Amino acid sequence: MTASGEPRDQIAIRHLGPLKGTIRVPGAKNAVLKLMAASLLADGRYELTNVPAIDDVAIMGELLAALGVRAHSPEPGRLILDNDGDLVPLAPYELVERIRASINVLGPLLTRCGEIRLSMPGGDDFGARPIDLHVASLEAMGASFKFAHGELHATADRLHGAEIALTFPSVGATENIVTAAVFAEGTTTIDNAAREPEVVDMCDLLVEMGADITGIGTSRLVVDGVERGSLKAADHRTVPDRIQAATYLAAVAVAGGELDIVEARPEHMENLLARFVEMGLDVSADAGRLHVVAEGRLHSIDVPTLPYPGIATDYKPLIITMLSVADGAGIVTENLYPGRFRYVEELIRLGANIRTTGHHAVVRGVPRLSGAPVRAHDIRAGAAMVVAGLAADGVTTVSGVQHIDRGYDDLVGRLAAVGAGIERI
Ligand code: UD1
Repeated sequence: MTASGEPRDQIAIRHLGPLKGTIRVPGAKNAVLKLMAASLLADGRYELTNVPAIDDVAIMGELLAALGVRAHSPEPGRLILDNDGDLVPLAPYELVERIRASINVLGPLLTRCGEIRLSMPGGDDFGARPIDLHVASLEAMGASFKFAHGELHATADRLHGAEIALTFPSVGATENIVTAAVFAEGTTTIDNAAREPEVVDMCDLLVEMGADITGIGTSRLVVDGVERGSLKAADHRTVPDRIQAATYLAAVAVAGGELDIVEARPEHMENLLARFVEMGLDVSADAGRLHVVAEGRLHSIDVPTLPYPGIATDYKPLIITMLSVADGAGIVTENLYPGRFRYVEELIRLGANIRTTGHHAVVRGVPRLSGAPVRAHDIRAGAAMVVAGLAADGVTTVSGVQHIDRGYDDLVGRLAAVGAGIERI
C-alpha cells in the first residue's frame, strides 16, 4: 500500500508495434451484477455462465451473502447462487458504498420482503448520481421511503402496478422498477424505459424465471405481476460486454494492427462501429465476431453520448483517447454525466491537446502521445489510460489499477497476448 492507503499495483505500457491475434470478450459487468441481484426474487439454485472475473462480481457476491444468498464459483466463468429464502433486507454500508449496482437490490428486496434498509450506493467517481427516479417510481407503486443517517428505508406491504413515464431512460431505475413490478398487484408500464442490452439481459432472466414482461428491448416495458411462489430460479448466460469489446477496438485503433474480437455481440454496438468506421477503422462483423484492421492515422469526428442505442457514456474515455491521436479536431459532448471528464487531465499529462467546457471536450489530435505516469480515476477511464499508453512513445504507468480490476477481466493478459507491451508491476 502507498502512504495514502492505495494499492501499489501499476500497469506499465509501451508501444511495441501493431497488435495481431484474437481476443475473447467476457460477459458484461453491467449485466451480471443485475442478474445476481435478480436472484433475490426467487428461492433455488441459479447458475450464471460467461461471468467475468472482476472485483465487482466478488463485491456483489459479498453483498448477496449479507442479504442471504450464497454465491460461489466452482470454476472460472461459472457462478452458482443459492437462495434458500432466508433473506435479510439490510444492505450494509461497507459493501453498498463500493459498487453502484448495489442499488439493484432495492427492487427485488422491496417486492419480496416488503422492506429494505439500504445505504446510499457508491461506485465510480464521476459526479452526483441521484436515485430520485427510482424513489418516485417505486412510490407510485405504493412504496414509502424514509431517508436518515445516510440510509434509505423503503417499505411496502404489497406493491401495485402503476403507469410510469421516466423523464430520462435511467438504466438502474428501469431495472429496479421491473424487478419490483414482478410481484406487484396488476400491471406496471414503463414509458421511456432504458433499452441497454444489459437491461434486456436481466429481463430475459426474469422471464426465464417466470416473470411476465413484454416489450423487452423497447422503450415501453409492460410487467404483469405474478404470485410470489410462481417464480423459480433459472440458469442464464451473461451477455457479452460491449464496453470491453470497444476497449480492444480502441486499443488496435491507436496501436495499429489486426484483431479478431470473438464472443462479442456486434449488433449491440452498431452506432459505435459506424463511428469507428468513419474514423478510418476497417471493421467487419458477423455472428458473434468482429474483425478490425487499423492502418494509418485515425480521422477526427464529433460524438455525443446518449442512452442506448446512442453512443454510451462508458465508451467516451476510449473515444477521447482515440481522438487525442487522430487527424483534426473532434468535439465530444457528454449528455449523461456532466462531471465525467476527470481523466482528461491525465491525457493532457501524456501530451494530448484537449479543452473541456461544460459538457463538451474539444480534442485536437496530435501525432503521438508521450508516456508518463497517470492515474485511473474510474473503471472506464482506467482502461482508456491503458489504451493511451499504446498511443504513446516511451513508457506509461497507470496507477489506481484497483478501478480497472473492478470491471475488466484480465485486460493486461488479453492485450499482452496480441502483442502489446504491457505488464502489471
Ligand atoms: C449504468 C451503468 C453505468 C453507465 C450508465 C449509463 C451499471 C452498474 N452502471 O449506471 O456504467 O454509465 O448506466 O449508461 O449498470 N439519473 C437521475 N436520477 C435517477 C437515476 C439516474 O437523475 O434516479 C441520471 C443520472 O444522474 C445520470 C443518468 O440519469 O445522469 C443516467 O443514469 P442511469 O442510466 O441510471 O445510470 P446507472 O444505472 O447509474
